[in-house]
Amino acid sequence: MSPVYYDNTFDRLNEAYENSKIRSKRVCIVGDTNTAPLYAEAVEKAINSHFDEVFIFTFKAGEEHKNLGSIEELYAFLLEHHFDRHDSLLALGGGVVGDMTGFAAATYKRGISFVQVPTTLLAMVDSSIGGKTGVDFMGYKNMVGAFHMPEFVYENPSVLRTLDDDQFASGMGEVLKSALLGDEEFFEWILDNMDGIIEHEPETILEMVRRTADIKLSIVERDPTEKGERALLNLGHTIGHAIEKYMNFNMSHGKCVALGCIAAAAISEKRGFLGTDELFEIRDMCVAFDLPMFADGINNDEILRITKEDKKMAAGKIRFILLDRIGHAFICDDLTDEDLLAGIKFINGDEISYED
Ligand SMILES: NC(=O)c1ccc[n+]([C@@H]2O[C@H](COP(=O)([O-])OP(=O)(O)OC[C@H]3O[C@@H](n4cnc5c(N)ncnc54)[C@H](O)[C@@H]3O)[C@@H](O)[C@H]2O)c1
Repeated sequence: MSPVYYDNTFDRLNEAYENSKIRSKRVCIVGDTNTAPLYAEAVEKAINSHFDEVFIFTFKAGEEHKNLGSIEELYAFLLEHHFDRHDSLLALGGGVVGDMTGFAAATYKRGISFVQVPTTLLAMVDSSIGGKTGVDFMGYKNMVGAFHMPEFVYENPSVLRTLDDDQFASGMGEVLKSALLGDEEFFEWILDNMDGIIEHEPETILEMVRRTADIKLSIVERDPTEKGERALLNLGHTIGHAIEKYMNFNMSHGKCVALGCIAAAAISEKRGFLGTDELFEIRDMCVAFDLPMFADGINNDEILRITKEDKKMAAGKIRFILLDRIGHAFICDDLTDEDLLAGIKFINGDEISYED
């Protein structure tokens, strides 16, 4: 598994290169139209002594540019500058830049090295870890891609100060998901450190990023190609994706995942795995981090239909992730439509009898 460095500066980036296998003399920093102007210069300065030549390539920011056309532009840039198999890339951005840079690295000249320097909370705790790369194709998300591990990941949460609140909240959706599926003590830590997180206190955010990333790292280490346990990371994603599609991608991914986690918790409670108190604790925690508790006005049957269409079905059955307590998830493949609808109704605010 790729080593991960955590530091609130870029000061140790050079050391990370020294410790890596990357010995090429040329590197291309790949950012987007937001991240490159903000941070490419600082990164370049930090790694200058390791490389003879540092190039900068900039994608247009946004999921709508996560496609093969953008990848072709990067290939052309690399060819133009005579990048060979020993040269490497550095992804400086959120999940979109990370996924595209990783995919270009996986395929350019049959594969070159790359490193991840994530700049969104979501990318720090999720997309930069685990080696999944790819682009969207013909309206389908991440349809074309490859597993390609970065040489290392360098997490500098100080860059989150320029991230907008909606993107930060989106990342918090993945943080809560990780705590819920893998670490009860961390869930309690989040509750205890709520103020520091909301205030973006640097050491608190660093610790939160590290602990969340650790949960994904340990799961991916045991199951790198998603044959089993890695599916647990999909907690909240099945109904979450359905909401994302239903909302025409107008609600951020992490917010939809948070709603998906609440729905999964409601189903877990209905099936007798999770206590009612825990269900409400999970739901109420979302409010503090600007995550929704309800998806007002969704059409329950339509969300059910989209959920069942989701790619995470095994042999016609929905592979769903449930909780048997806060901090522990399991795979369930015998959910009925009625179970799913109960979860969907709960986040639609239909199931209010608990509060009577
Ligand atoms: N590979 C994986 O395992 C994996 C996992 C989860 C998600 N993803 C992918 O990640 C993508 C979403 O990633 P995202 O949420 O990071 O979105 P993103 O990369 O689009 O970044 C969100 C926005 O924030 C801007 N930005 C990034 N860092 C900034 C900073 N520090 N300051 C100011 N602006 C900044 C970006 O330019 C962009 O406009 C999706 O395409 C999704 O498919 C991949």
